[in-house]
Amino acid sequence: MMTTEVVTPFNEIAAREERFQLATYKKMPVAAARGLGAWVETAEGVRYLDLYGGHAVAATGHCHPRVVEAIRAQAGELLFYSNLVYSAVRARAAEKLVGCAPAPLAKTFFCNSGTEANENAMRMARMKTGREGVVTFTGGFHGRTADAISATFLGKYRELGRPNVPGHLCAEFGSIESVAAVADDTVAAVMLEPIQSMAGVRQAPPEFYQELRELCDERGMLLIYDEVQTGVGRTGEWFFAGSEASAGVVPDVVTLAKALGSGVPVGACLTTDVVASSIRENDLGTTFGGGMLAMAAVTATLEAIEEEGMLANARAVESHLRGRLADVPGVAGVRGRGLLLGVEFDSESAARIHKALLERRIITGTSSDPRVLRLLPPLCLSNGEVELFVEALREICREIF
Ligand SMILES: Cc1ncc(COP(=O)(O)O)c(C=O)c1O
Repeated sequence: MMTTEVVTPFNEIAAREERFQLATYKKMPVAAARGLGAWVETAEGVRYLDLYGGHAVAATGHCHPRVVEAIRAQAGELLFYSNLVYSAVRARAAEKLVGCAPAPLAKTFFCNSGTEANENAMRMARMKTGREGVVTFTGGFHGRTADAISATFLGKYRELGRPNVPGHLCAEFGSIESVAAVADDTVAAVMLEPIQSMAGVRQAPPEFYQELRELCDERGMLLIYDEVQTGVGRTGEWFFAGSEASAGVVPDVVTLAKALGSGVPVGACLTTDVVASSIRENDLGTTFGGGMLAMAAVTATLEAIEEEGMLANARAVESHLRGRLADVPGVAGVRGRGLLLGVEFDSESAARIHKALLERRIITGTSSDPRVLRLLPPLCLSNGEVELFVEALREICREIF
């Protein structure tokens, strides 16, 4: 039988969402219906080049066939059982994830989101050290649940989480002296986004990470990298932890989410055997953490990145993009690593450029720095797709600058 698909007009979708959903996000005027690779499409078939990767999630690209197939197959076997039973699917995902991580990271704890991973990382540090304090940084973002938002010294976020969890101390990103000044013997951990994404893609020199590692070791504190954005290949390496940019430094805990399940909600903490030895049965937990559907997505995501050479691709595309942006009028520089990039302009024009790109059907991200436009595209982005972006940007910038 022939069926005629009835397409709901955009205005109707938007009105319905606004009527029945809290207006907590400033949305783009796009109703996404389908996606493939670096592209998303509306129900009417209008295509957008997604250089924001569905909010830094679609590292394997939208609807990567391998991930979709793994989820489909798992859905027909067993959607979910908690950590109260063993599971071959969970064992495989944990082994694969640890296999991608630098030593001595050797154990995983699965949860459901970035904020939850950070809460558990801080709790692990408190359990390991018997102390309560946590030092985080100006410009860092760690999530919206009570402890994570209390660790977030970026804009208005911390204020939104009042009353804040006690014991959170703030240091200046990039300044080891400021960490040394606040990190007294009540401090269990120093936690940081190794590249601060929302703050406008801010990175410190490798020495800073080295000095942090040394200070943490000296004072008996754990070092936690929040790699919710930088992890899972985003920087052209599996993790910032252990990379050259990190001076080879591996923290005691790495937290992950976003790209880890290609869109199936999943978070994780990776930690060492030494930290793991302080965590006992029932100390940490969450019903949905380690569920089969999410675990199937994790394994397929990591395998897709590995087998399709996406880490090398991210580095090659970064290099191409940097070269092509060099002579675009108004571009003052390109920050970041791999495909976590901040395009910095001469003036506070990122929001205007974001809007103009969207009108040309290219999705990008803004940041809390009004001069910086953020790019977090799928790691399978091609140089041809980069060209579409650079040409559109060049046109827009010629008008503005
Ligand atoms: C660096 C970082 N940490 C933590 C979070 C919180 O993750 P989630 O939204 O999955 O709770 C985010 C979210 O944007 C993030 O960018």
